[in-house]
Amino acid sequence: MYRKGIFAATSFAVVAGLVTFFSGIPASKAADIDAKKLYMTHCKTCHGENGQPTELGVGLGASEFANAEWQAKTPDEQIIKQINNGTPEKMMPFKEKLTPDEIKALVSVIRGFGKK
Ligand code: HEC
Repeated sequence: MYRKGIFAATSFAVVAGLVTFFSGIPASKAADIDAKKLYMTHCKTCHGENGQPTELGVGLGASEFANAEWQAKTPDEQIIKQINNGTPEKMMPFKEKLTPDEIKALVSVIRGFGKK
């Protein structure tokens, strides 16, 4: 009886996990998002580890996130819009790849680069 309960609970968790995985709904809540890791995975190639664009990023015309002037003139909405839509031939859109919560979390990472 006891074992059967454990088995049922485990199967339920596995099924729920698979459903979540295949439906593309993130299992994690905002608090579980590792924004820094997302940045390192998806953005670092062009925007650099510290918001200082890489050679590739500079070549494409990426701004320096660590720059105080850039931070001051760029509202959160613009950052979110850019991550969602990208810029043709410069930056790929992320709206299909990342959830709105993940994108919001990335805004914090980018803001963090402005704090010295
Ligand atoms: C292939 C290189 C590349 C990757 C990867 C990339 N970007 Fe960009 N990004 C750019 C370029 C180039 C620009 C400048 C686009 C323009 O001038 O319109 C830009 C612009 C931006 C801007 C807007 C800057 C402004 O001045 O308004 C933000 C914010 C941004 N990227 C965030 C991100 C985030 C977050 C990621 C990862 C999820 C990411 N980028 C991944 C190349 C990249």
